[in-house]
Amino acid sequence: MADTATLEINGVKHEFPVVTGTENEVAIDISKLRATTKGVITLDSGYKNTGACESAITFLDGEKGILRYRGYSIEELAEKADFLEVAYLLIFGELPTNEQLEKFHSDIKKHSFVDDDVKKILDAFPKAAHPMGVLASLTSALTSFNPSCVNVDSVEEMYNAIVRILGKFPILVAWTMRKKNGLPLYYGDDSLGYVENILKMMFKQPNQDKYIQNPILVNALDKLLILHADHEQNCSTSTVRIVGSSHAGLFASLSAGISALWGPLHGGANQAVLEMLEAIKADGGDTAKYMEKAKDKNDPFRLMGFGHRVYKNFDPRAKIIKKAADDVLSDLGIEDPILDIAKGLEKQALEDKYFVDRKLYPNVDFYSGIIYRGMGIPTDMFTVMFALGRLPGWIAQWREMRMRKEPIGRPRQLYIGETERKFVPVEKR
Ligand code: CMC
Repeated sequence: MADTATLEINGVKHEFPVVTGTENEVAIDISKLRATTKGVITLDSGYKNTGACESAITFLDGEKGILRYRGYSIEELAEKADFLEVAYLLIFGELPTNEQLEKFHSDIKKHSFVDDDVKKILDAFPKAAHPMGVLASLTSALTSFNPSCVNVDSVEEMYNAIVRILGKFPILVAWTMRKKNGLPLYYGDDSLGYVENILKMMFKQPNQDKYIQNPILVNALDKLLILHADHEQNCSTSTVRIVGSSHAGLFASLSAGISALWGPLHGGANQAVLEMLEAIKADGGDTAKYMEKAKDKNDPFRLMGFGHRVYKNFDPRAKIIKKAADDVLSDLGIEDPILDIAKGLEKQALEDKYFVDRKLYPNVDFYSGIIYRGMGIPTDMFTVMFALGRLPGWIAQWREMRMRKEPIGRPRQLYIGETERKFVPVEKR
């Protein structure tokens, strides 16, 4: 592979370095493009061909269906690790020793509370508020209760900021659901594991003396959180990095990431998938009709949970989740007709020329909602659960961006508006 790329503009040749990543990914370094070409920029709508940073966190090969966190395959992590180990791995780069993990968990537990005044903010939301809006607002509000800036050059301050948010965020998630369900707020139980505690915070009933853990739910949630924990430079992660690049604080950057995740083309797809499957069921279960709608360019309907910007063969997370959905529902003794509709749609899509030609496969969100529903989580909370899983990834990416002292994110544009014109007073328009 040549170590330079040549670009010819108006008969003038310009050379740019070709750089290679550790997995032999190749990129043309155009950081000097404007300077050497006197103002030429690249145009890449949706950043489909643009690498925005160098990162050592997650490797993804969309053609081969590979996803690795810090070099470890998602399949192995989902089977052998727990969520807190994966969070540590993503953020600090190595799997923790027993001692490191215990200290990490114990430091997180020291921050597993929020200022009691946060309850007043939560109280002000209508019960019908979408949980993602509530979560983004509460996360942003944390800044007001913890106003001191993090000195990112201090290892200790960085660590403290990380354990603080890992302690507080699950409370915000659980309280968002409790508020929605009309349950009194509950601070959790620090004798429990990280994921067990989240379940207890979400589900403990006020008249229950003890909350009995169901290992099926613990395992299912642990796996779902691991599968969602990072996915390199997707829409919400890029948002976290770009907001953080202005040196806005960690909570503000995370809150922006939550808002980006909310959209139905990104994390909001898990809610959209379930609503779509319900609509198909209510319409008599005619999956073929919806396949036709998805292919009709005059119909805005898309098969939610299908397709991915990067995966063009299969989404390895979807494979794991499909099996988990089967296992969890059968372990819980639930027969959900929605699962059959989902499988029917998948089968038809995988044999359909439209979907095959465009390399559209089920993504991580196609089956995750079915598991969440089996666990008793309301549909509009699904994307909140995605945010809970993505938290360590966002933190890791924010930390990496700040530690590498990346410049403020500020894309260019190709202006296609009016050229200069004279102002016309209102009475003459
Ligand atoms: N149903 C029907 N057609 C589709 C779909 C779909 N779900 N997804 C893509 N297409 C078609 C699209 O119309 C286009 O066709 P054509 O070439 O004829 O114009 C072609 O496939 C390429 O699609 P695109 O929109 O240009 O691809 P993209 O990379 O910009 O978008 C996507 C990727 C995930 C936004 C898109 O596939 C989509 O909208 N999927 C449904 C929403 C969804 O499930 N999102 C969750 C993504 S995974 C969770 C996460 O990490 O966020």
